[in-house]
Parts: sequence; structure tokens; C-alpha cells
Amino acid sequence: HRLLVERLPDSQVMVVSNREPYIHNRSSEGIVLQNPASGLVAALEPIMRACGGVWIAHGSGSADRDTVDRHDRLQVPPVDPAYTLRRVWLSEEEQTGYYYGLANEGLWPLCHIAFVRPTFREADWLQYCKVNERFAETVVQEATRDDPIVLVQDYHFALLPRMIRDRLPKATIITFWHIPWPNAETFSICPWRNAIIEGLLGSTILGFHTQLHCNNFLEAADRFMESRVDREHMSVTYRGHEVLVRPYPISIEWPPAALANQAPVASCRASVQRQFGLSSDVRIAVGIERFDYTKGILDRLKAVDDLLTRHPEWSGRFVFIQAAAPTRSKLGAYSALQEEAETLVNWINAKHGTRDFAPIRLVIRHHEPDEVFELFRAADMCVVSSLHDGMNLVAKEFVAARDDEQGVLILSTFAGASRELSEALLVNPYDTHGMADALQTALQMPSPEQRNRMRLMRELIRERNVYRWAAQMLLDASHIRQRQRIGSAE
Ligand code: G6P
Repeated sequence: HRLLVERLPDSQVMVVSNREPYIHNRSSEGIVLQNPASGLVAALEPIMRACGGVWIAHGSGSADRDTVDRHDRLQVPPVDPAYTLRRVWLSEEEQTGYYYGLANEGLWPLCHIAFVRPTFREADWLQYCKVNERFAETVVQEATRDDPIVLVQDYHFALLPRMIRDRLPKATIITFWHIPWPNAETFSICPWRNAIIEGLLGSTILGFHTQLHCNNFLEAADRFMESRVDREHMSVTYRGHEVLVRPYPISIEWPPAALANQAPVASCRASVQRQFGLSSDVRIAVGIERFDYTKGILDRLKAVDDLLTRHPEWSGRFVFIQAAAPTRSKLGAYSALQEEAETLVNWINAKHGTRDFAPIRLVIRHHEPDEVFELFRAADMCVVSSLHDGMNLVAKEFVAARDDEQGVLILSTFAGASRELSEALLVNPYDTHGMADALQTALQMPSPEQRNRMRLMRELIRERNVYRWAAQMLLDASHIRQRQRIGSAE
């Protein structure tokens, strides 16, 4: 944390992301602020609280639809302001094309191997270009010097690095791609693949979660662009400008802010038992995430069915609580998932449940961080069974929540987090039988073994926390800035 602040003397830090860290929603009690369910926001918010600056994002809450109450610039967090939130207002048409269309029906399924076919529409692409331009203009408006450090976030803004470079040539642009980057063959189906790669090559540094994703990007740049790719040095030179391509595995703050408000583990457990009407001998598994088809929610429910079929002794003694935050619900793939999940849950509950006991509890709503942490602390295990995931911070948050060093993490090998959390029970979510075996292993794992595994994972996350993630990128950027300064002085 200190390192981070020391790295930034005399510089202006700006973050650009689609999602804003505080969403203003209208409720019967007036305007309420909500933290969105987003790994990106969870990781960046503590960084901005630590180093200040400006965060530029799309204003998206229900309270903002009414132009009377909405504010372009706000100081946040509301209780203890540390940085400026600058909001960009998008029209319905822009939002439909740029966010729902190109970003979430095009790039999201293109980059995640979840076997959902990407949709590419020319009209969406045009909105995507336009919205990226609008954010580039906003960066220029907010820049107080000609060399800001701009942290560009995610697949919503592939074109932005080049647009900023054209307007502010001296800017240090650190772009982080929070989702996987597929192999070159897969990426090549995108009709605008060259424009996207060219846009990203406007960055100073381009970060991914894993080495594999870096390699995939280097391969794409090599194949499709007139560029020089140096695989040893991990860089691409395009039109005389060099971009470093590096892995920076994202993480969470340590200790997480939500932990400060938590009751002891036993009280959390009692509270969750009360909420769900569970007796104290019922073992609790949880899954908590956005209701997204990449998360493998159906697959884990099928594993619960398999567990209860092969081990009927757990019937009535095992519950799976699935908290799922509605997300991108306007899109067909998301509404279909919700319907399918509800049907599957009813079927499993009818098969293995009784009138008084349902083995699966599906709670479809947004959960605030305090509630999420209470669930984590109450659980015997947490299941993260992503079909494909850049990192997955839920896995890290579960570990961070367990200061009692108990609880088992079941983690998909297709989530970036599995590269670091090797003490989790690693599973292939497509292998229902194998995942059910992991549930059984977790249910039977002795407490000392849980402690050993938890301790190792906690040590790793404590050390590789989100401040280190950001500090590493800024350290690399400050070396580049220094070299540039020396170069221009000579
Ligand atoms: C992923 C993406 C983020 C996004 C988040 C939530 O973590 O990488 O960019 O903010 O999902 O999705 P949403 O569409 O609700 O912002």
C-alpha cells in the first residue's frame, strides 16, 4: 500500500472502466448506493482509495435515469471521500450496442471458452467505437497534465489505449484485460480483430492474469499485425511504439474491508442457519457469483445431484446455497441460463428433498459484501466451478474470509486462480462425477488438513494482495517513464 503511494509522486492517476464503483439506485428510502458484483471493481476500489485520482465510468444506476438528480462528478466513497468519480452518460442506443452487443454478446463469449457462440453485429461495433471515443474525450477533459497514468480496464475499452495515445502521446497507459485472451485461431473469427489488437497496442503496458493469456496475445499480434514480437522480452513493437505484455495476477485487498464488520464464525453460522431454517447438523456448501454462464453453476448443481444419488446418507444433512446476482439479464444467453437453473433446482429438490427440506437454495438477488462474507464464514465449503475465468476473486475472498482457517475451497482448473491456489480441491467442472467426488472429499476432510490448506492459501493471498498487483504494474510503468525521461534529456 505504502509502496503504491510512493510510486506516484507528482503524477495523476486515472482509471477508466465501464462499471462504476458506486451505483446510485432509487428505492423507497431515497437514493441508495450499491457496490456492484464485479471482480474488477472489488480489486480497483481499494487502490483508488489508497492513491486518489479520478475514476471515469458509465453512470448506470436507476437513480441516474432521472437527469435532475444525477451528478457528473462526485467525491467517493461517500463516508470518507478519497477520489473523484467522473461519470459518462450513455444513451440507450450506445449502451445496447457497446455494452450489451459488442462487449457482452461479442467479446465476452469470444474470450471465454464456454461454448456460447459470439454474435458480431456491425451496428454494435459502430457504437463500441463511438463510446470508446467518448471515454477518450473524457480522459482528455479530466487530465490535469500531459502525462497522466491511465489505467484502462477490460474488454469494454479495447480501442481506448490508442485513442488516448493519439491525444496524449506522453501518457503512461496501463491496460488490464480482466478476462481470458483466447488462442489466435479463436480470436481470428472476430471481424474487427486487427482494429482491436491495434487499439490495445496503444498501451504502454498490457496486462493479463496469466502467462498463457500473454502468449496468446503475442501470437495474435505476430500473426495478424505488421509488428515485431519479442517473446523473450515479452513485448510488441508496432509503428515504432513498444508495448510490454505482462502477466499480473489480480488479487484482493488484505485484510478485506468486509471482514472488519464480521461476527465470529460461530455467529455467522448460526445466522445463516436461521435464515435458511437449517438444523446445526446440516453441512453447508456455498456458491456466490454473478448469474453468468461462464461460472459453471448448472454443472455444480448436477454434481450435487450426483453426490446425493451416490451418497444418499447426505440427504437432509447437506445443503447447497447458491447466491446468484442477476447480470446482463436483457441478453438471451443470460435469461435462458436463469430459466434452466430454476428448472434444474426444482428437479433436484423434488428428487432428493422432502416437504421440509430442500437440498438446494437458489437466491437470485444482489448480495452486499457483508452478506457475502457472512455466507463464506458460515460454510463448510465454497464451490467455484467456472468453465473459464480470467482469475476469479470469489475464490480468494472465500479464503480471506476464513480467519478461523477452516473450510474447503473447491476450484475449477479453468479459473486463473487455480494457478496460485493449488491447495484447493481442483476440479474439472465438465466432469460431474469428479466434482461430486470433490464434494464428498470436502465433506470428509479432517479439520487439521483444512487448516493446513487454508493457511497456505491465506499466506499466498496476504502476500500477493491487490496492492502488490497494482504496485507491480506501476513499478514497471515508472521504470519506463524514467527511461523515457532520460532518453528525452539526452
Ligand atoms: C467481469 C468483467 C468486469 C465486469 C464484471 C461484472 O468481472 O471482467 O469488467 O464489470 O464482470 O459484469 P457487468 O457486466 O455487470 O459489469
